[in-house]
Amino acid sequence: MKDWDQYEPAPDLLQNRVILVTGATSGIGRAVAQDLVRHGATVVAHGRDAAALETLYEELKDLGPEPVVAQLDLERAQGDEYQRLSEQIESRFERLDGLLHNAGVLGDLSPIEHYDIGLWQRVIHTNLNAPFILTRCLLPLLRRSEDASVLFTTSGVGNVGRAYWGAYCVSKFGTEGLAQVLADECENTSIRVNCINPGSTRTRMRRQAFPAEDPSSLPTPESITGPYLYLLGPDSRGISGERIDCRPASQSTR
Ligand SMILES: NC(=O)c1ccc[n+]([C@@H]2O[C@H](COP(=O)([O-])OP(=O)(O)OC[C@H]3O[C@@H](n4cnc5c(N)ncnc54)[C@H](OP(=O)(O)O)[C@@H]3O)[C@@H](O)[C@H]2O)c1
Repeated sequence: MKDWDQYEPAPDLLQNRVILVTGATSGIGRAVAQDLVRHGATVVAHGRDAAALETLYEELKDLGPEPVVAQLDLERAQGDEYQRLSEQIESRFERLDGLLHNAGVLGDLSPIEHYDIGLWQRVIHTNLNAPFILTRCLLPLLRRSEDASVLFTTSGVGNVGRAYWGAYCVSKFGTEGLAQVLADECENTSIRVNCINPGSTRTRMRRQAFPAEDPSSLPTPESITGPYLYLLGPDSRGISGERIDCRPASQSTR
């Protein structure tokens, strides 16, 4: 699938699928979670803020199957908290059909020479170590699905090093590596693993990276959900180990 404008997901595309979305309380994660529910998925919506999760729950429950919310601070959570989340999903649904690693932080735009060491570690932990730990804990549940999709979020700087993008850039390189290793390990299983690059999108993170940019020049999160639905749903069966751009590189700067 190349021309996303032509992709029309069936209204019941994700019926009977249980899909966990990290960072679902804002930006791209929120828009994707909403569209997943609209297409019939039962969404496990992850966030770190209880009040934001409450608001999200109210929004999602009016759109389709009742969602479940999961609170976890990916910067601070310890292994047993991830394990508890896995056990909660298991006791409620017995399996997991989709896992979207969307949560992330930008850190600083700063030269390596001056990059704050503590911030570097927090960015790498949130963007790379946390998705590894979560995936590791959830793989047994993903194995129980007939058609499971794990989707990692990369960036325009996930395979091209760029000055000043520091820990964010390195974390996205690591993310792509993690996805490739896992895709290879899951060959000939019912689990497929891919990376998605949303491209420049009108969110808080983008504003933080480009404060002088006119946000109205950028696509909204709601306008880029098609490829997410495609990759998390049955239409992408058989596709694994790929890096998919939501928009052509010529239309996206990072
Ligand atoms: N926007 C773009 O132009 C662009 C381009 C390329 C790639 N991406 C990628 O797309 C993904 C979504 O980004 P976005 O643009 O939608 O940014 P965003 O609006 O800032 O959303 C980031 C999400 O991650 C969550 N998060 C951050 N730190 C967390 C932590 N410690 N624990 C739990 N959740 C945490 C945030 O939760 P809170 O709401 O609680 O802060 C928020 O839900 C990211 O992986 C980003 O790297 C974005």
